Amino acid sequence: METVRFSVNGVAQAVIAAPKTPLLDVLREQLQLKGTRFGCGAGECGACQVLLDGRAVPACDTPLWAVAGHEVTTVEGLGWPGLREAFVAEQAAQCGYCTSGMLIGAAALLKRQPRPSEAEVRQALDGHLCRCGAHNRIVRAVLRAAAAAP
Ligand code: FES
Repeated sequence: METVRFSVNGVAQAVIAAPKTPLLDVLREQLQLKGTRFGCGAGECGACQVLLDGRAVPACDTPLWAVAGHEVTTVEGLGWPGLREAFVAEQAAQCGYCTSGMLIGAAALLKRQPRPSEAEVRQALDGHLCRCGAHNRIVRAVLRAAAAAP
């Protein structure tokens, strides 16, 4: 066990855990941030994505030691203007299990490309699985958020 210090949604944290502990476990079990989902546990579905210094990473495949001294943003702290509203407007969440990861992936895209093409949205979210098949609505939601941004 070690104390690992990092920031989550702008709040300084000091977590005592084994350094190899997946960030996802720390977020959900120690910090009670349940918006980040466990899907595959193997870095392949996108359900657990968070922003690490603004870059989308799978929290299930990110060891705690790797975030020491860095800033983690979860869906609870995302605050991306208009993105959630666009998901609602396009009915982009069906069962909702993938939604937090989709929001994180979309925010990471919009940060680096504020006016993405449909192809760029599809490519950015390619690694996110949605078992409900809501992909087209999700893509429309991201495009809507981009169009509405100042
Ligand atoms: Fe982390 Fe699937 S749960 S990528």
